[in-house]
Formats: sequence, structure tokens, C-alpha cells
Amino acid sequence: MVRNLRFFPPRQIGNRVDSCWEENVKTHVVIFEARGGTDKGEYGYRPDSKPIIDSLTQKGWTSEIIFYRDEDRGEIYRHTCAKAGAYISRVNPGNLPSEVGYFQMLRELVKHGVIGLPHPDAMINYGAKNAVEKLKGTEIVPEDVKCYYDFETFKAEFPASLANGVRVAKQNRGSTGEGIWRVEVLDANPNGVVSLDQMVKCTEAKDNHVETMPLGEFIDFCVKYLDGEGGMILDMPFLERIKEGEIRVFMLRNSVVNIVHKKPADAPDAFSATLFSGAKYTYETPDKWPELVGIVNRSVPVIQRRLGNYDLPLIWTIDFILDTDPETGEDKYVLGEINASCVGFSTHLELSEDIANEIVRLMEAEAVVNPNWMAFAN
Ligand SMILES: Nc1ncnc2c1ncn2[C@@H]1O[C@H](COP(=O)(O)OP(=O)(O)O)[C@@H](O)[C@H]1O
Ligand SMILES: [Mg+2]
Repeated sequence: MVRNLRFFPPRQIGNRVDSCWEENVKTHVVIFEARGGTDKGEYGYRPDSKPIIDSLTQKGWTSEIIFYRDEDRGEIYRHTCAKAGAYISRVNPGNLPSEVGYFQMLRELVKHGVIGLPHPDAMINYGAKNAVEKLKGTEIVPEDVKCYYDFETFKAEFPASLANGVRVAKQNRGSTGEGIWRVEVLDANPNGVVSLDQMVKCTEAKDNHVETMPLGEFIDFCVKYLDGEGGMILDMPFLERIKEGEIRVFMLRNSVVNIVHKKPADAPDAFSATLFSGAKYTYETPDKWPELVGIVNRSVPVIQRRLGNYDLPLIWTIDFILDTDPETGEDKYVLGEINASCVGFSTHLELSEDIANEIVRLMEAEAVVNPNWMAFAN
């Protein structure tokens, strides 16, 4: 398990050098946010950050929100390093002008003993769209998914993929359906081969708008999704039963805390579960979804192992779409994506208590367990 290792140099106690690990927890937590964005309240910060602060205060801990900007990076780093035992990252890195500096700062903080909630590499590995591909062959991901990292492979292989049926091509960045395309070949070729000049119907999950164009043109348009660090396109089957809704499992580390059932708008081309596109959300307790909760509980260790063995994020979601097993006719839950970087819980503010408890327990454990001999081995 990759953990946030903290080494404290040996301390001089009287005339004896005590080489044990630091026993005192720094009981201050910094919450990073970014300015702007639709998730902010009247006073500029996320409305669901305040209850975390209040819950920590009740435990006798202190915390504060810091708005990250590249320009202030050095000062923020020094302040956090000196004051905080842990940080909570509540920034959507895709919304920063560049995520490089932010991740660099988080990495340095972890290196210098601040507990990362989550560690930047955990954020990257759990939250990237290729998490679905990395879980291929498990109970929650079918074999028929792939991920492209360069334009040549995408251009060479995506047409053949479309010959198998309607696909969803997903860019890695963004989180509101932008660059998430349902792609369907119109007038399929009788010999089953799909060529670049065939017309495709492309529907974007951002707003369910439809564009029709030759496949070659769509592929060229997608070149931007493959640019730069983290550039990739996930290619998975379009799951018809998205009409019944996307099922979001809200996680606090390894426990399911609630379920959000997101039903796309009732319109012919609608497949998006985003609020902006008109989807309707229903909040449900886990006991309404016993089968799914069982699957999630079984899958969490596999998810953790396959996605790099990082500590589980504090707050994260696992999003599923229903499918039907062609052999048994039974329901199957297919992983659509994992969100690990800036999950909100504005509708369930009472969760702040559990979140604060988890932070405190975690920091206390980090302070007493020697990371060379961890409590939880794989
Ligand atoms: N394989 C799929 N089949 C059907 N609909 C899908 C599929 N994958 C994604 N969607 C729809 O597209 C929306 C956006 O895709 P998602 O993977 O959640 O990306 P984002 O990061 O933009 O939220 C989902 O909320 C869901 O409604
Ligand atoms: Mg999503």
C-alpha cells in the first residue's frame, strides 16, 4: 500500500536519543479550494466545507480554507507545511489553468509529512477515465472497453470498435459531460466494416446536443483530448439502460454512505446524468440497494489494488450504469467512472460529522503507526 510516509528525525530526550515516530498529531487541517465555479456559495467557498470545519472544531481541532492560486503557491506551501497535519483537496484540477503546480505542491507537502487527503497521485489514478479500463475483466467492467493514448491508435482502432455497436468516447478532463460523446454509425455498411467517410451521429453528454459528421472528421476533432499530460480517450459500449439512470455510490473511504440515482431528461437523445442537461436526482439510503452495496464492498479492494494501491480517497464516488447480462438476463452494474478530486455533499451536510471523525482517526493512526510496519498490509 502506498502511504503518505512521514519520517521524523530522532529526537533528543534528556541525554537519550529517542528514535520513535512522532507521537503528537498536528491538529490543524487545511482545506484547499479554488476561486470561482458553480459549486461555491454566497461567500465564495464551498458550502459543504463549513460543516467539516465546524465538526472538526467540536473535536477541538482547527481548520481553515485556503484558495489555491499558482501565484501564491510558495506561500501556501510554507504556511501549510508549518501549520497543518493534513490537507483536504477540494479543487477540481481540470478547472485550474494548469494542474502541474498544484499537484507539485501537494506532492511536496506529503513528502514533508502533511497527510494528503487524498495524495495527488491517488486523485489522478482513481479519478482518471482509464480507471475503467484498468478494471477490465472484474465484476464491474466488461471486456469490451479500451483506452487510447495517441491519435494514430485512436484513428486506426476506433472505427473497428464502432462496428461492434454504439460507443461512448470519453475524454479524461472535465467532469460535466464535456467531451463525453455517444457515437453511432448511420447507415451501417453491409459488410460490417466502418470507414472514415461514413456518417456518424455524435451526442455530447454536456447538453445532449447532436452533431452529424463523417467519422474521420469526428476523429480529427478528438485530437485535443489526446494532448498533453493525462490526455486519453476511453472507449466503452453505450449502455442503453442509462435511461433508467446513473447510480452514484457516495463513498467515505471504504464505506458506502449514500446513493444518488440520476435519471437523464426524458427526451429522445438524452443520455446525460448531469443536472445542467436536465437530469433528475433522487437521494437514497444504501439499504435500498443491497445488491449494489455488496458488489461495491467486494470491489473496493480490487479497485484499490488495480489503481495503484494508494490509500482510498476520503470522499469519492463510484458511478454505475445498469446493463443486462446477455446469458443470464440478470442485471449487471457497469462502472462508468470514479470521481476522486472534488466530490461535494451539499445535500447531506450531516455527513460532515463522519468526515471529521474519519480525518481525526486517520491522523491519529498515522501518528502512532510506524509506516515501515503498516497496520493494514495488502
Ligand atoms: N457507457 C455509457 N453508456 C451510456 N451513458 C453513459 C456511458 N458513459 C457515460 N454515460 C453518460 O454520460 C455522462 C457523463 O459521463 P461521465 O463518464 O460521468 O463523465 P464526466 O466526467 O463528464 O461526468 C454520464 O453521467 C452518463 O449519463
Ligand atoms: Mg460523471
